[in-house]
Amino acid sequence: MKVTVVGAGNVGATCANVLANNDIVNEVILLDIKEGVAEGKALDIWETAAVNHYSTRTIGVTNDYKRTANSEVVVITSGIPRKPGMSRDDLISTNAGIVKSVTTSILEHSPDTKIIVVSNPLDVMTYCAYLTAKVDSSRVFGMAGILDTARYKAFLATEIDCSPKDIQAVLMGGHGDTMVPLPRYTTVGGIPVTEFVSNEKLDAIVQRTKKGGGEIVNLLGTSAWYAPGAAAAQMVETIVRDEKRIFPCCTWLQGEYGLSDIYLGVPVVLGKNGIEKIIELQLNDDENALLQDSAQHVRDVMAVLDNMAVVS
Ligand code: NAI
Ligand code: 2OP
Repeated sequence: MKVTVVGAGNVGATCANVLANNDIVNEVILLDIKEGVAEGKALDIWETAAVNHYSTRTIGVTNDYKRTANSEVVVITSGIPRKPGMSRDDLISTNAGIVKSVTTSILEHSPDTKIIVVSNPLDVMTYCAYLTAKVDSSRVFGMAGILDTARYKAFLATEIDCSPKDIQAVLMGGHGDTMVPLPRYTTVGGIPVTEFVSNEKLDAIVQRTKKGGGEIVNLLGTSAWYAPGAAAAQMVETIVRDEKRIFPCCTWLQGEYGLSDIYLGVPVVLGKNGIEKIIELQLNDDENALLQDSAQHVRDVMAVLDNMAVVS
């Protein structure tokens, strides 16, 4: 079984490394547009196999989509980060052009693949891949919710001084400051989180989670890669093992939560067919208001893409 990761930058290479170390597929193809980058990083990863005891071959290619043929899953991490002087619209237009051309080339060689989009702005780039792919929306979805929930769990684990393994949580909405962590659905070892953390501390953790991406950018001068790469790899693993795990993923909504024709983060069942079920929680009025606000922010950015007519 083969998986392709497009973009051999920080997130893509990390994702390929986690996939290889978890030894779940025969081959990981790492593809980049920059000559030699994917080849070099893939070779470096493959050279860890004897040390870390796995068999997955990691192979790097420069824009050679023939080598990606018949991939079970493709992760798209190609794109540029926002640079000084660059408007949000410039970023959308550049990354949409990249996501569109990558999606087209991928589907030429792997017509039945599932596509996980990672490139930012996430919800809108997933929409862009969907418009380009013209396949069932169950096969095109985005990674953000696992990362954002993992950050929320990390902050809670630090505060409570417990293992993040024992925290169960769900977070919804767009991948940005309007995302909606849901304390009412958060438990620690099966116990409501409010038994461990005061409302004031919980609110501070929710606010920190919403700005979790920016916190890393402020520290590093570029965006995160260890947690995003691991989160994308977890989605791949769930699909290729048909585990039917429940995660928040950026998904095409058609009436769920009163929302239609929008890509937004909601809990889903993820299996060999991609998005196998969308789970509808009974949100209370406050939670629903936050989700609708987040959806409106995503719609505003989707409209920017629609008006550019990069894809039709
Ligand atoms: P990076 O700059 O390290 O890597 C991007 C790679 O894409 C570069 O190696 C570049 O050569 C390659 N690339 C550009 N155009 C290409 C094309 N047409 N075909 C193939 N490869 C191409 O960036 P990084 O840190 O890996 O981030 C990648 C993307 O993921 C960014 O858009 C970033 O904002 C996003 N991101 C999303 C997260 C999420 O939660 N969804 C979390 C972290 C990053
Ligand atoms: C992150 O959340 C910026 O999307 C990127 O780390």
